[in-house]
Amino acid sequence: MSSPPIVSIRHLTEFAGQEVVVRGWVRHRRSSGKVQFLTIRDGTGDLQAVLSKGTLGEEQYGWATELTQESSLVLTGKPRADTRAPGGLELDVTRLQVIQVAQPFPIQPKEHSVGFLMEHRHLWLRSSRQRAILKIRHEIIKACRNFFDERDFVLIDTPIFTPSACEGTTTLFQTQYFDQTAYLTQSGQLYGEAAAAAFGKVYCFGPTFRAEKSKTRRHLMEFWMVEPEVAFAQLPDMMDLAEALLTSMIKNVVSNQREELAVLERDVAKLEAVAIPFPRVTYEEAISCLKKKGSPIQYGDDFGAEDETTLSNEFDKPVIVHRYPTAIKAFYMQPDPTHPDLALCMDVLAPEGYGEIIGGGQRIHDYDKLLARLKEHNLPQAAFQWYLDLRQYGSVPHAGFGMGIERVVAWICGLDHVRETIPFPRMLYRLYP
Ligand code: 4AD
Ligand code: MG
Repeated sequence: MSSPPIVSIRHLTEFAGQEVVVRGWVRHRRSSGKVQFLTIRDGTGDLQAVLSKGTLGEEQYGWATELTQESSLVLTGKPRADTRAPGGLELDVTRLQVIQVAQPFPIQPKEHSVGFLMEHRHLWLRSSRQRAILKIRHEIIKACRNFFDERDFVLIDTPIFTPSACEGTTTLFQTQYFDQTAYLTQSGQLYGEAAAAAFGKVYCFGPTFRAEKSKTRRHLMEFWMVEPEVAFAQLPDMMDLAEALLTSMIKNVVSNQREELAVLERDVAKLEAVAIPFPRVTYEEAISCLKKKGSPIQYGDDFGAEDETTLSNEFDKPVIVHRYPTAIKAFYMQPDPTHPDLALCMDVLAPEGYGEIIGGGQRIHDYDKLLARLKEHNLPQAAFQWYLDLRQYGSVPHAGFGMGIERVVAWICGLDHVRETIPFPRMLYRLYP
């Protein structure tokens, strides 16, 4: 006789009435005399399994009574439709194999402090809520890659060890690279620009690092960023691209992650409201709006977290803020030809107070202008010579942006902190586990 197939819980409906093997962990056990009810999780779903003394015999039934939360096991049995059961099925178990009886699990269905949960992040990942968040993260990343791939962008992996700063020298993680100093990358952009001249349209997607000495609900020390870069593109092209990317990701999450959004009690109507076109306001308009709302902000200041929240609360979709003063932006930003003290740049602020999720714009493509900017920013020319070089060999206007995945996940999932959006967050005071 051939042995029954190993089936994951989400595919069980296709096997109703047939003998199958299910492997997983115990979430919960409840007994009523001669029957034990186990809720089993295998990563793809939850299943109620019914174990009776009559079917299993004394010995195996005895093992079942010892099962604790997170004990690992292999069950053989037949799925049977039951409308009351989660997933609409129950498994009538004919054989129980216990792999391990788990020690008392530290995380119980009660309130734990955030500190305790973060300390046990390696175990916390198993909770329904954390699994829902990380599945949505996966969907977002998949949608994002598909979006660029379908539009003929080429994926270019950029280095993690770099000789120079992209986003300012105050947040660099310095490390030793044999006899040289290296920095962990803050952004793949500069390398993306080189690749855009080779392929036309590229994107990079990888971990980036910022030694942010502030403890906020939006900042991580290590976060993942997707960065498209397009030759011959200008600022309005990036606004269009950002809108199309965000709406496409939301559409995928809303249609493919319904259950996960429900676990998180996310108001899906708010996500469905996110449709093209997004409002576009200049930095100057944003400042006067904030002043009217009572913010002490002055023209020339960067937005604080509260200002971003105030601004984004004005809209039920992401808002694109463009043309910030060059003085508060990175060295590579192309000045607006009609107002050279403004940069052809944009930030996209998510609604519901989530703040900046995308930053980007047009890059300086003139050699002399770029060299002057490097000097103004006190950046070492030698480390940037290759980047300057790009402006000598068929330099063209080009533009791009970076989108922080964790902030997008926090927004789409409706979380109050980015710490839950990445499996193992690196934060100001947290490097463990
Ligand atoms: O605005 P930023 O600093 O822009 C850049 O790095 C550009 N070089 C990108 C480009 O044009 N290719 O960062 C881009 C995005 C932010 O909008 C935010 O979503 C995210 O990266 N981000 C962070 N996310 C989590 N923790 C941090 N410490 C972050 N810093 C930036
Ligand atoms: Mg920014």
